[in-house]
Amino acid sequence: MPLQKKDYMSDIWKDGIFANKVVFCTGGAGTICSAQVRALVHLGANACIIGRNVEKTERAAKEMASLRPGAKVIGIGAVDVRKFDSLKDAASRCVKELGGIDFVIAGAAGNFLASIEQLSVNAFKSVMDIDVLGSYNTLKATLPYLIESGKKHRVDSELNPCPLGTGGRIIFVSATLHYRGMPFQAHVSVAKAGIDSLSNSVAIEYGPRGMTSNIIAPGPIESTDGLERLLPSDAKAAYIKSQPLGRVGHVRDIADATVYLFSDAGNYVSGQTLVVDGANWRVSGGT
Ligand code: HXC
Repeated sequence: MPLQKKDYMSDIWKDGIFANKVVFCTGGAGTICSAQVRALVHLGANACIIGRNVEKTERAAKEMASLRPGAKVIGIGAVDVRKFDSLKDAASRCVKELGGIDFVIAGAAGNFLASIEQLSVNAFKSVMDIDVLGSYNTLKATLPYLIESGKKHRVDSELNPCPLGTGGRIIFVSATLHYRGMPFQAHVSVAKAGIDSLSNSVAIEYGPRGMTSNIIAPGPIESTDGLERLLPSDAKAAYIKSQPLGRVGHVRDIADATVYLFSDAGNYVSGQTLVVDGANWRVSGGT
Protein backbone atom coordinates (compact mmCIF):
# COMPACT_ATOMS: atom_id res chain seq x y z
CA MET A 1 0.00 0.00 0.00
CA PRO A 2 1.43 3.46 -0.87
CA LEU A 3 2.58 5.46 2.15
CA GLN A 4 0.08 7.87 3.64
CA LYS A 5 1.16 11.31 4.88
CA LYS A 6 0.45 10.24 8.48
CA ASP A 7 3.07 7.50 8.07
CA TYR A 8 5.90 10.04 7.93
CA MET A 9 4.75 13.43 9.27
CA SER A 10 2.05 15.21 11.21
CA ASP A 11 -0.56 17.37 9.60
CA ILE A 12 0.39 20.75 11.03
CA TRP A 13 2.98 22.05 8.55
CA LYS A 14 2.28 24.46 5.70
CA ASP A 15 2.74 23.09 2.17
CA GLY A 16 5.54 24.74 0.19
CA ILE A 17 7.66 25.94 3.13
CA PHE A 18 10.68 24.22 1.62
CA ALA A 19 10.08 25.22 -2.01
CA ASN A 20 13.40 25.64 -3.88
CA LYS A 21 15.36 23.96 -1.09
CA VAL A 22 17.54 20.90 -1.61
CA VAL A 23 18.30 18.32 1.04
CA PHE A 24 21.25 15.89 0.90
CA CYS A 25 20.86 12.91 3.21
CA THR A 26 23.18 10.00 3.96
CA GLY A 27 21.44 6.82 5.06
CA GLY A 28 18.44 8.31 3.24
CA ALA A 29 16.76 4.99 2.46
CA GLY A 30 16.84 3.88 6.12
CA THR A 31 13.75 3.85 8.31
CA ILE A 32 14.33 7.12 10.18
CA CYS A 33 16.08 9.17 7.51
CA SER A 34 13.61 8.26 4.79
CA ALA A 35 10.77 9.68 6.93
CA GLN A 36 12.80 12.88 7.48
CA VAL A 37 13.36 13.27 3.73
CA ARG A 38 9.77 12.39 2.84
CA ALA A 39 8.46 15.15 5.08
CA LEU A 40 10.84 17.71 3.52
CA VAL A 41 9.94 16.61 0.00
CA HIS A 42 6.24 16.71 0.85
CA LEU A 43 6.71 20.33 1.98
CA GLY A 44 8.45 21.44 -1.22
CA ALA A 45 12.12 20.37 -1.10
CA ASN A 46 13.99 18.36 -3.69
CA ALA A 47 16.32 15.69 -2.36
CA CYS A 48 19.38 13.58 -2.94
CA ILE A 49 19.58 10.42 -0.86
CA ILE A 50 22.76 8.44 -0.40
CA GLY A 51 23.12 4.77 0.51
CA ARG A 52 25.33 1.72 0.19
CA ASN A 53 22.66 -0.46 -1.42
CA VAL A 54 21.95 0.69 -4.98
CA GLU A 55 18.59 -0.99 -5.45
CA LYS A 56 17.21 0.05 -2.04
CA THR A 57 18.40 3.65 -2.47
CA GLU A 58 17.03 4.06 -6.01
CA ARG A 59 13.70 2.49 -5.08
CA ALA A 60 13.31 4.81 -2.08
CA ALA A 61 14.16 7.86 -4.22
CA LYS A 62 11.54 6.92 -6.80
CA GLU A 63 8.90 6.45 -4.15
CA MET A 64 9.77 9.79 -2.49
CA ALA A 65 9.53 11.62 -5.83
CA SER A 66 5.94 10.44 -6.13
CA LEU A 67 4.91 12.23 -2.91
CA ARG A 68 4.49 15.64 -4.57
CA PRO A 69 3.90 16.58 -8.21
CA GLY A 70 7.12 18.05 -9.61
CA ALA A 71 9.33 16.71 -6.81
CA LYS A 72 12.85 15.69 -7.85
CA VAL A 73 14.58 13.04 -5.78
CA ILE A 74 17.87 11.43 -6.81
CA GLY A 75 19.01 8.17 -5.21
CA ILE A 76 22.77 7.58 -5.32
CA GLY A 77 23.68 4.07 -4.22
CA ALA A 78 27.06 2.34 -3.80
CA VAL A 79 28.33 5.25 -1.69
CA ASP A 80 30.19 4.32 1.49
CA VAL A 81 30.37 7.30 3.86
CA ARG A 82 33.81 6.06 4.96
CA LYS A 83 35.13 7.07 1.52
CA PHE A 84 35.34 10.82 1.15
CA ASP A 85 35.77 10.85 -2.62
CA SER A 86 32.56 8.99 -3.33
CA LEU A 87 30.64 11.42 -1.08
CA LYS A 88 32.29 14.37 -2.79
CA ASP A 89 31.20 13.02 -6.20
CA ALA A 90 27.67 12.48 -4.88
CA ALA A 91 27.51 16.04 -3.57
CA SER A 92 28.65 17.49 -6.90
CA ARG A 93 26.10 15.37 -8.75
CA CYS A 94 23.41 16.65 -6.40
CA VAL A 95 24.40 20.25 -7.09
CA LYS A 96 24.60 19.67 -10.84
CA GLU A 97 21.16 18.07 -11.00
CA LEU A 98 19.28 19.97 -8.29
CA GLY A 99 21.07 23.32 -8.20
CA GLY A 100 22.66 23.37 -4.73
CA ILE A 101 22.48 21.97 -1.20
CA ASP A 102 20.62 23.88 1.51
CA PHE A 103 20.09 21.16 4.11
CA VAL A 104 22.15 18.13 5.08
CA ILE A 105 21.11 15.19 7.20
CA ALA A 106 24.07 13.05 8.28
CA GLY A 107 22.15 9.90 9.08
CA ALA A 108 24.26 6.91 8.01
CA ALA A 109 25.18 4.73 11.01
CA GLY A 110 26.32 1.23 11.93
CA ASN A 111 25.50 -0.72 15.05
CA PHE A 112 25.45 -4.14 16.68
CA LEU A 113 25.42 -5.39 20.24
CA ALA A 114 28.79 -6.54 21.56
CA SER A 115 30.57 -6.47 24.89
CA ILE A 116 33.92 -4.72 25.08
CA GLU A 117 35.58 -8.15 25.41
CA GLN A 118 33.84 -9.46 22.28
CA LEU A 119 34.49 -6.33 20.28
CA SER A 120 37.53 -6.65 18.03
CA VAL A 121 39.66 -3.61 17.38
CA ASN A 122 38.46 -3.65 13.80
CA ALA A 123 34.79 -3.86 14.89
CA PHE A 124 35.25 -0.78 17.09
CA LYS A 125 37.01 1.00 14.24
CA SER A 126 34.28 0.07 11.74
CA VAL A 127 31.60 1.78 13.81
CA MET A 128 33.83 4.80 14.46
CA ASP A 129 34.54 5.01 10.74
CA ILE A 130 30.91 4.79 9.68
CA ASP A 131 29.55 7.11 12.35
CA VAL A 132 32.27 9.66 13.13
CA LEU A 133 34.41 9.69 10.00
CA GLY A 134 31.25 9.25 7.89
CA SER A 135 29.61 12.29 9.50
CA TYR A 136 32.78 14.31 9.06
CA ASN A 137 33.07 13.24 5.41
CA THR A 138 29.43 14.16 4.82
CA LEU A 139 29.99 17.58 6.35
CA LYS A 140 33.23 18.16 4.44
CA ALA A 141 31.79 17.09 1.09
CA THR A 142 28.78 19.39 1.42
CA LEU A 143 30.32 22.31 3.31
CA PRO A 144 31.10 24.53 0.29
CA TYR A 145 27.46 24.26 -0.81
CA LEU A 146 26.10 24.83 2.69
CA ILE A 147 28.21 27.98 2.97
CA GLU A 148 26.85 29.14 -0.42
CA SER A 149 23.33 28.49 0.79
CA GLY A 150 24.02 30.33 4.04
CA LYS A 151 25.24 33.33 2.04
CA LYS A 152 22.20 33.27 -0.21
CA HIS A 153 19.84 33.38 2.74
CA ARG A 154 21.76 35.84 4.84
CA VAL A 155 19.86 39.01 5.70
CA ASP A 156 22.10 41.66 7.19
CA SER A 157 21.07 44.85 8.85
CA GLU A 158 23.12 47.32 10.85
CA LEU A 159 21.22 46.59 14.02
CA ASN A 160 21.21 42.86 13.68
CA PRO A 161 23.98 41.53 11.47
CA CYS A 162 22.97 37.95 12.15
CA PRO A 163 22.35 35.46 9.42
CA LEU A 164 18.65 34.82 9.10
CA GLY A 165 16.83 32.47 6.80
CA THR A 166 16.73 28.83 6.05
CA GLY A 167 19.95 28.09 4.20
CA GLY A 168 23.05 26.18 5.19
CA ARG A 169 21.68 23.83 7.82
CA ILE A 170 22.96 20.48 8.99
CA ILE A 171 21.39 17.91 11.31
CA PHE A 172 23.46 15.00 12.60
CA VAL A 173 21.41 12.01 13.72
CA SER A 174 22.81 10.85 17.05
CA ALA A 175 21.42 8.89 20.02
CA THR A 176 21.00 9.12 23.80
CA LEU A 177 22.77 5.95 24.91
CA HIS A 178 26.06 7.74 25.67
CA TYR A 179 24.49 10.14 28.19
CA ARG A 180 24.63 7.58 30.98
CA GLY A 181 26.52 4.69 29.37
CA MET A 182 25.04 1.49 27.97
CA PRO A 183 26.26 -2.11 28.14
CA PHE A 184 27.20 -3.71 24.80
CA GLN A 185 27.16 -0.30 23.13
CA ALA A 186 30.57 1.14 23.99
CA HIS A 187 31.55 1.52 20.33
CA VAL A 188 28.35 3.33 19.33
CA SER A 189 28.37 5.46 22.48
CA VAL A 190 31.88 6.73 21.77
CA ALA A 191 30.93 7.41 18.16
CA LYS A 192 27.73 9.29 18.99
CA ALA A 193 29.57 11.43 21.58
CA GLY A 194 32.03 12.35 18.82
CA ILE A 195 29.22 13.31 16.46
CA ASP A 196 27.63 15.51 19.14
CA SER A 197 30.94 17.26 19.57
CA LEU A 198 31.39 17.74 15.83
CA SER A 199 28.00 19.43 15.60
CA ASN A 200 28.93 21.89 18.34
CA SER A 201 32.13 22.82 16.52
CA VAL A 202 30.24 23.40 13.26
CA ALA A 203 27.71 25.62 15.02
CA ILE A 204 30.45 27.82 16.44
CA GLU A 205 32.84 27.79 13.51
CA TYR A 206 30.30 28.22 10.70
CA GLY A 207 27.54 30.23 12.42
CA PRO A 208 29.21 33.43 11.20
CA ARG A 209 28.90 32.03 7.64
CA GLY A 210 25.13 31.64 7.95
CA MET A 211 25.01 27.98 8.97
CA THR A 212 23.21 26.22 11.78
CA SER A 213 24.16 22.80 13.11
CA ASN A 214 22.09 20.63 15.41
CA ILE A 215 21.74 17.09 16.65
CA ILE A 216 18.55 15.08 16.68
CA ALA A 217 18.80 12.29 19.22
CA PRO A 218 16.01 9.79 18.63
CA GLY A 219 14.85 7.53 21.43
CA PRO A 220 13.40 4.07 20.78
CA ILE A 221 11.62 4.30 17.42
CA GLU A 222 9.17 1.66 16.24
CA SER A 223 10.27 -0.59 13.35
CA THR A 224 13.91 0.50 13.33
CA ASP A 225 16.92 -1.84 13.24
CA GLY A 226 18.16 -0.16 16.42
CA LEU A 227 15.06 -1.04 18.46
CA GLU A 228 14.68 -4.51 16.93
CA ARG A 229 18.26 -5.32 17.91
CA LEU A 230 18.13 -3.88 21.38
CA LEU A 231 14.71 -5.16 22.42
CA PRO A 232 13.66 -8.85 22.28
CA SER A 233 10.08 -9.13 20.94
CA ASP A 234 8.78 -10.89 24.09
CA ALA A 235 9.90 -7.91 26.20
CA LYS A 236 8.21 -5.29 24.00
CA ALA A 237 4.83 -4.93 25.74
CA ALA A 238 6.32 -4.50 29.21
CA TYR A 239 8.91 -2.10 27.84
CA ILE A 240 6.28 0.12 26.20
CA LYS A 241 4.30 0.18 29.43
CA SER A 242 7.40 1.31 31.32
CA GLN A 243 7.92 4.37 29.14
CA PRO A 244 7.00 7.82 30.52
CA LEU A 245 4.58 8.50 27.65
CA GLY A 246 3.40 4.89 27.49
CA ARG A 247 4.63 4.45 23.95
CA VAL A 248 7.76 4.26 21.85
CA GLY A 249 8.48 6.81 19.15
CA HIS A 250 7.26 6.84 15.57
CA VAL A 251 9.41 7.95 12.61
CA ARG A 252 6.92 10.82 12.27
CA ASP A 253 8.23 12.22 15.57
CA ILE A 254 11.74 12.50 14.12
CA ALA A 255 10.49 13.90 10.80
CA ASP A 256 8.51 16.61 12.61
CA ALA A 257 11.59 17.60 14.65
CA THR A 258 13.56 17.83 11.39
CA VAL A 259 10.94 20.06 9.76
CA TYR A 260 11.05 22.34 12.80
CA LEU A 261 14.85 22.68 12.77
CA PHE A 262 15.04 23.34 9.02
CA SER A 263 12.04 25.70 8.97
CA ASP A 264 12.02 29.45 9.70
CA ALA A 265 10.85 28.53 13.21
CA GLY A 266 14.34 27.09 13.79
CA ASN A 267 16.31 30.13 12.58
CA TYR A 268 17.91 30.88 15.96
CA VAL A 269 18.45 27.30 17.06
CA SER A 270 22.03 26.11 16.63
CA GLY A 271 24.54 24.01 18.58
CA GLN A 272 21.66 22.16 20.22
CA THR A 273 20.63 18.57 20.74
CA LEU A 274 16.95 17.95 20.24
CA VAL A 275 16.22 14.74 22.13
CA VAL A 276 13.08 13.15 20.70
CA ASP A 277 12.54 10.24 23.06
CA GLY A 278 9.48 10.86 25.23
CA ALA A 279 11.83 11.20 28.24
CA ASN A 280 13.03 7.64 27.64
CA TRP A 281 16.70 8.12 28.53
CA ARG A 282 15.86 9.65 31.88
CA VAL A 283 14.16 6.43 32.97
CA SER A 284 16.01 3.74 31.03
CA GLY A 285 19.33 5.28 30.09
CA GLY A 286 18.78 5.27 26.34
CA THR A 287 16.91 2.11 25.30
C1 HXC B 1 30.77 -8.26 17.10
C2 HXC B 1 30.91 -7.63 14.85
C3 HXC B 1 29.50 -7.78 14.70
C4 HXC B 1 28.73 -8.23 15.86
C5 HXC B 1 30.34 -7.14 12.80
N1 HXC B 1 31.37 -7.24 13.65
N2 HXC B 1 29.17 -7.46 13.40
N3 HXC B 1 31.53 -7.86 16.03
N4 HXC B 1 29.41 -8.44 17.01
N5 HXC B 1 27.42 -8.41 15.77
C6 HXC B 1 32.77 -6.98 13.37
C7 HXC B 1 33.31 -7.90 12.28
O1 HXC B 1 33.64 -9.18 12.78
C8 HXC B 1 34.55 -7.11 11.82
O2 HXC B 1 35.60 -7.25 12.72
C9 HXC B 1 34.09 -5.68 11.94
O3 HXC B 1 32.97 -5.67 12.85
C10 HXC B 1 33.64 -5.10 10.62
O4 HXC B 1 32.62 -5.91 10.11
P1 HXC B 1 32.29 -5.95 8.57
O5 HXC B 1 31.09 -6.77 8.38
O6 HXC B 1 33.51 -6.26 7.79
O7 HXC B 1 32.05 -4.40 8.30
P2 HXC B 1 31.00 -3.70 7.43
O8 HXC B 1 30.55 -4.53 6.29
O9 HXC B 1 31.59 -2.44 7.09
O10 HXC B 1 29.76 -3.53 8.40
C11 HXC B 1 29.67 -2.52 9.32
C12 HXC B 1 28.79 -2.94 10.47
C13 HXC B 1 27.44 -3.47 9.99
C14 HXC B 1 28.58 -1.74 11.39
C15 HXC B 1 29.51 -4.02 11.25
O11 HXC B 1 26.66 -3.90 11.06
C16 HXC B 1 26.70 -2.46 9.16
O12 HXC B 1 27.07 -2.15 8.04
N6 HXC B 1 25.61 -1.91 9.64
C17 HXC B 1 24.90 -0.84 8.91
C18 HXC B 1 23.47 -0.93 9.20
C19 HXC B 1 23.20 -0.72 10.64
O13 HXC B 1 23.89 -1.22 11.52
N7 HXC B 1 22.15 0.00 10.94
C20 HXC B 1 21.74 0.17 12.31
C21 HXC B 1 21.97 1.52 12.70
S1 HXC B 1 21.07 1.74 14.18
P3 HXC B 1 36.84 -8.29 12.48
O14 HXC B 1 37.73 -8.12 13.65
O15 HXC B 1 36.21 -9.65 12.42
O16 HXC B 1 37.46 -7.87 11.18
C22 HXC B 1 21.89 2.85 15.01
C23 HXC B 1 21.15 3.35 16.22
C24 HXC B 1 22.07 3.47 17.38
O17 HXC B 1 22.93 3.25 14.70
C25 HXC B 1 21.29 3.77 18.62
C26 HXC B 1 20.59 2.59 19.17
C27 HXC B 1 19.63 2.95 20.27
